[in-house]
Amino acid sequence: MLRTLSTNDHIALRTSQHLGHTDTLTQSIAVIGIGTMGRAIASGLVKAQVVSADQLVLHDRDHASAHKLAEELAGASVAINTATVCRSADVVLLCVKPNDVPQAIAQMGTLSPHTLLISIAAGVTLSALQDAAGADVPVVRAMPNTPCLIGQGLTVLSAGCAATDAHMSVAHRIFAALGACQSLAEKHLDAVTALSASGPAFVYVMIEAMAAGGLSCGLPRDVATAMAARTALGAASMVLATGMHPAELRDQVSSPGGCTIAGLLALEDGGMRSVVSRAVEVTARTAAGLGRRT
Ligand SMILES: NC(=O)c1ccc[n+]([C@@H]2O[C@H](COP(=O)([O-])OP(=O)(O)OC[C@H]3O[C@@H](n4cnc5c(N)ncnc54)[C@H](OP(=O)(O)O)[C@@H]3O)[C@@H](O)[C@H]2O)c1
Repeated sequence: MLRTLSTNDHIALRTSQHLGHTDTLTQSIAVIGIGTMGRAIASGLVKAQVVSADQLVLHDRDHASAHKLAEELAGASVAINTATVCRSADVVLLCVKPNDVPQAIAQMGTLSPHTLLISIAAGVTLSALQDAAGADVPVVRAMPNTPCLIGQGLTVLSAGCAATDAHMSVAHRIFAALGACQSLAEKHLDAVTALSASGPAFVYVMIEAMAAGGLSCGLPRDVATAMAARTALGAASMVLATGMHPAELRDQVSSPGGCTIAGLLALEDGGMRSVVSRAVEVTARTAAGLGRRT
């Protein structure tokens, strides 16, 4: 049984990341929707050598984007028809926008109870997926993020009623190859969507803002951007590697009467902490409504 997120996440996340790079899969995987995420996941799996390219069948309603990725991956095949590929695949990874999910599942036809359907769509609930696919189809919801492309992703999984531990193990092995992977109750997935799936966008803004400060102080633009990104990477790694509370780590950087506390007070003046927290909150609320928009 996979365990859920706990206060020891920093340890668990490192462990699953490590496992991912040694665990190969024999299943055939159909990827439906070759946009930002379908591309990141398919490329990430091949890069991590968890599957060989010939285990992947790619489908997008724009056939050209599936063909382009298949060429890049050398060995992956392209399916022109969703139903044909979904009939023969062991795992179907559904990577279309939330509003496109009902149509995409309808196009799959009748899925076998042996086919594992994994949806990464934000806001589309397990019960909606199960209604569309059939009650006996094993369904898993996954919430990955774009750093999956470089093996630095974070994915949270939730099991549908027909998904067994064996199905969850397959889903876990797929996403652990792309970074850290955990299972969590479905009620948390909108918060996860906001924090870790949308989260990279928030961190990019922070990196941009810090780099702009460096630029304003006279650093060359490329130096400032690389420095801000490395600083974010180093600080995040400190939180995960030490397990210390971020406030404790922040205190280590701020000496009495020093320059860091002056900068931190400027951030507090701007309401940075509540602005970022509210951004996560409003993103979670919006994510919850995504699957229900017409
Ligand atoms: N982007 C992220 O950071 C992120 C993170 C976590 C989860 N997600 C979830 O991942 C899913 C995909 O997001 P994305 O950003 O990768 O979207 P995207 O770039 O728009 O890619 C979706 C692709 O699927 C195609 N498509 C739509 N309906 C189809 C169908 N019935 N059959 C075949 N192909 C179809 C789309 O074609 P058209 O271009 O013609 O529409 C598009 O090429 C979303 O549900 C999102 O909630 C995204």
